[in-house]
Amino acid sequence: MNHTLAIIKPDATAGGAAGKIIAHLESAGFRVRALRMLTMTTAQARSFYYVHRERPFFASLVAFMTSGPCIPMALEAPDAVAKLRREIGATDPAAAAEGTVRRLYAESKERNAIHGSDSDDNARREIGFFFAGEELLR
Ligand code: RTP
Ligand code: MG
Repeated sequence: MNHTLAIIKPDATAGGAAGKIIAHLESAGFRVRALRMLTMTTAQARSFYYVHRERPFFASLVAFMTSGPCIPMALEAPDAVAKLRREIGATDPAAAAEGTVRRLYAESKERNAIHGSDSDDNARREIGFFFAGEELLR
């Protein structure tokens, strides 16, 4: 599948890194196909990260993701899901490879600058979570 979903998280958006992160992803070969800025509601954040509802960090993650504006984007490139996961790096920026978005811009394992879909099925679900079909440019 050639599409995936990224979210520039509230830490990076508030910190003024959004433009640099978008430029980084474009330089890596992604095309931005749809983009919004919004502050997620608690219900939206709980639903988006529902898979993690039993994890000890869930309440903190929801509080962080609703703490300010974030920027979801639908991105296009060959093998988009795996490519974005490579470009963003490991969840914890201390473990993320040199030159990855998280290594460059993340503060901590939780406040880690960017989300990337982890499978084609989740990419489809997550793109649909933020964008209506007609918003995706053809
Ligand atoms: P994401 O879903 O946001 O792209 O991140 P990921 O796949 O690399 O990591 P995942 O395990 O899906 O965790 C989702 C987000 O929860 C926060 N987190 N905090 N404090 C902690 O130990 C911890 N672990 C995860 C991070 O914001 C992580 O990106
Ligand atoms: Mg994940």
